Amino acid sequence: MAQGLVRRDFAWLQPLRGTVSDIVVFGCWDDGETDRQCHEAYALLRVLHASRATVVDREAAFIGNARAWYQEARARQPRWFDSWVVEFVVTDMAGEAPELRSNAYDLAYCSGVLFFMQSEPRKLQAAVNTMARVVSPGGWIIACEDPGLPSLFKGVGLLKTDRPDGAPEYAYCYRKAGATDRPESDSAAATKTPLARV
Ligand SMILES: C[S@@+](CC[C@H](N)C(=O)[O-])C[C@H]1O[C@@H](n2cnc3c(N)ncnc32)[C@H](O)[C@@H]1O
Repeated sequence: MAQGLVRRDFAWLQPLRGTVSDIVVFGCWDDGETDRQCHEAYALLRVLHASRATVVDREAAFIGNARAWYQEARARQPRWFDSWVVEFVVTDMAGEAPELRSNAYDLAYCSGVLFFMQSEPRKLQAAVNTMARVVSPGGWIIACEDPGLPSLFKGVGLLKTDRPDGAPEYAYCYRKAGATDRPESDSAAATKTPLARV
C-alpha cells in the first residue's frame, strides 16, 4: 500500500470517528519528492471513516502534483480510495480564501503550516481565522504545530478540547462553538469541551 494511505500516523484521532464526514486539509507540500507526497488527507479519510476531503495549498505546483498523483493512483488502484471524493484547491489560507465555503467542513486540519507564518502575526491569525470560518458549528479544528499558538484560537469562537491520547505534543485541538455553546473568549473559565462532540 502506498505510504500515504496507511492509517497509523493518525490513529490518535480515532475518537473523532463518527463525527467527521467532510475534511479540509491545509498545506500538502507535494513538491514532487516522494517523501513529501500529499498524504494527510488520505490517512485522515481512512482513520476517521470520512467520505470527502479538500486539499488546500497556496502553491499551484504542489496542488498540481497532488492532483496528478491522486488521479493516476485512483485509476490504477481504485480500491485504495473507497468511494472518497477528493478535491484540490489552490488558495492562500492567510488571505480571503474565497474558494472555501464557510461553515462547510467537519474538520479543518493542518500540520507544520502555521509554523511557517510565525514571523508574520497577522497572516498567522488570518490563517487560523480561515480554519475557524470554514468549519461548521460543532466541527473540529486541529493544528499540529509548535508551542505558543493557543492565543490565536481564542476570540474566534473556538472551544478548547482535551487532546486525545497519543496526540503529538503540540496538537492544538479545538471545536467551533455550536448554537448552544459559549465561545472560550466569553468565559473566564475557558470551559474545556470533552472530546466527544455534542
Ligand atoms: C511544511 S509543509 C506541510 C507539510 C505537510 N503538512 C506534511 O506534514 O507533510 C507546509 C505547506 O503549507 C503550505 N502553505 C504555507 N503557507 C500557506 C498558506 N498561507 N496557505 C496555504 N498553504 C500554505 C506550503 O506551500 C506547504 O505546502
